[in-house]
Order: sequence, then C-alpha cells, then structure tokens
Amino acid sequence: MSNTHVDLSKRHSEKPVFSSEKMAEVQGIISQYPEGKHKSAIIRILHIAEETFGGWLSIETMDYVAEVLNIEPIEVYEVATFYTMFNLEPTGKFVFEVCRTGPCMLVGSDQLIEHIESTLDIKVGETTKDGMFTLKTAECLGACGYGPMLQCGKKYHEHLTNEKVNELIAAYRSGELPK
Ligand code: FES
Repeated sequence: MSNTHVDLSKRHSEKPVFSSEKMAEVQGIISQYPEGKHKSAIIRILHIAEETFGGWLSIETMDYVAEVLNIEPIEVYEVATFYTMFNLEPTGKFVFEVCRTGPCMLVGSDQLIEHIESTLDIKVGETTKDGMFTLKTAECLGACGYGPMLQCGKKYHEHLTNEKVNELIAAYRSGELPK
C-alpha cells in the first residue's frame, strides 16, 4: 500500500496555516480522542490538510499537521507516505486511482492502465500537460466484484472498458461529472 509516487522536492513556499474556522473543525476532531491519543486523529487531519492546502501534502503541510497534533514530523511522514490515497506532490484537477490488486488485475486492470496511459499520454504517477488528470495505481479499493475500477475523488467508476474510460475522460474534461 505504500505511496510510491513521491517527490519530496516539491514544496509550499509559505507555511500552511488553517483558518480559524478550519482550526475549530480540526480541534473538534482531535477532542473526540482521549487525552494522550490525539495522534489517532492523524488520517482525518491529513485529509483536511490535503483538501485545504491545494490537494496535496507538502513537507510544510506535514510539519504543520505534526505541530497541530503535537507529535514529531516523522510520525506524520510515516503515515502520509504509507497510504497511496495521499498525494505528496501537486496533482491534476482529477486524480484517477486505478486498482491493480488481484481480482481487478484478473479482469483487465493492467490493460486499462495501459489504455489510460496512452489516451492521456502520461505514465502512472504523472499529470497531463493541461493539468487536468493525474494517474495513480492503488491497492484494493473494496470494489473487488466490480473491476476493473478506478476511484476519482469520492466517486467509484466500475466495470470499466476502454470505451467507458474514454467517455469518463470526456465527461471530466467537459465538466459534466459522470453519475
Ligand atoms: S481488487 Fe480491485 S477493488 Fe478490490
């Protein structure tokens, strides 16, 4: 599951800081955990930080999350680099995460990935020149009976074929988010 697409040279130029509203939300989440167990909120806080600071986690963002949780930065790096769901460099507007674990592989995820690579003219881990799409792979996304499949944001797209992927790309490009 570890996050293999990591370019730690990408940085935020300024220290990311939550707005007072966002900090209230974050502190509300942290307060749900017992004293001394605040670190358990880390994944939820990382999601908020990613969404708040441009869709990715820079070193500066991870350091800030460590400060907010009052833990060591390395404890944040360990979590953020382990899960492929976190982006450790800037991404395109839409991130396609294609599951490539056994059940999806058996029904064609590798061919699907190749098709997306050639259609978008990028390799796994890259972003299209127009900044619209990033392609990633992921381990099992919990939709094993519906493969091959990909996740884009909060949406799952299942039983994919090359034709369906073409339609999907066109729909995302046109701004008509697929149902
Ligand atoms: S193997 Fe692909 S979703 Fe589980």
